[in-house]
Amino acid sequence: MKAYAYAPGKIIICGEHFVVYGATALAAAINRGTTAEAEPSPTTTIYSKDFGLQADLSTNSIPEKLKPLTAAITAVKEHLGEKRGVKLTIQSDLPPRSGLGSSSSSAVAAVAASALALGHRLPLDDIIKLAMVAERLVHKNPSGIDVQVSARGGLLLFTKGSQPELIKLKEKVRFVIASTGVERETGELIERVRVWRERNLSLFSSLVESVTTLSRCCAEALILGDLKRVGAILNFFHTTLSWLGISIKEIEQIVEAALSSPAALGAKLTGAGGGGSVIILCSEDGADDVVKSVSKVASETFITTLPNNGVKTWVKKS
Ligand code: MEV
Repeated sequence: MKAYAYAPGKIIICGEHFVVYGATALAAAINRGTTAEAEPSPTTTIYSKDFGLQADLSTNSIPEKLKPLTAAITAVKEHLGEKRGVKLTIQSDLPPRSGLGSSSSSAVAAVAASALALGHRLPLDDIIKLAMVAERLVHKNPSGIDVQVSARGGLLLFTKGSQPELIKLKEKVRFVIASTGVERETGELIERVRVWRERNLSLFSSLVESVTTLSRCCAEALILGDLKRVGAILNFFHTTLSWLGISIKEIEQIVEAALSSPAALGAKLTGAGGGGSVIILCSEDGADDVVKSVSKVASETFITTLPNNGVKTWVKKS
């Protein structure tokens, strides 16, 4: 028997970086993610098809990039009190380090599939706790938002240390996601913002409050279907994040190209910045026009319609 799990990637609609310091952020699961395949085995091996790398825990040969997943699978085994190992293979259709949550969706899928291969369908809270073991090694000081969205799915208002609030949409909402193709390390960008905050403590703490207010306002506008208001908030967030110093030329080119289309209601960088991706909110039938406008300057473009499900698991008889 083989066990499988699929976990989606995410976009942050408002509040990245400030969420690390207690602001409420708004994020959503997208239509791309990571699939993990696992089966019981005498020893534990982890193979990432995307990196073309394998970790073998019996020989302690663990490539640097697979250390976070190795730590999470070791934590799964401890949590379950299991002596058996798992043979785990993961593959993602998210561009790596693109600000779309590839590391958290890999961790969530890997944890859920490994536990299922060992005979346990873990509750969501346990999947989240165990996936956070990997996330802490990847991002050093993560808020947990990426893992929460990947596991729970939907559209979430998230404040560090609290249960996320699920926002129910009456109408579907479309975003174009445009990647710069510039890879970056989230941990380095979190560190850059930490240094900026140290120098501007009072302003930063006022902005944390502004972000909470605007994230809630954005969630309310999405529920009401007031996409013009959502777009206005996104543009404002983009400007604040650029001003914090985490945008780059390639991001600005995509935002400028996107907003030249009348079908684009708002655009902003998403996730850590420094490269990664831009999200563009589109009018009801405008996604194809927006794709046309940004495809000249983006390295990869796709459309996601919200909401999307969180982690799912299944088994196949081999
Ligand atoms: C990364 O997707 C989002 C950040 O806010 C970091 C975090 O919340 O863990 C930059």
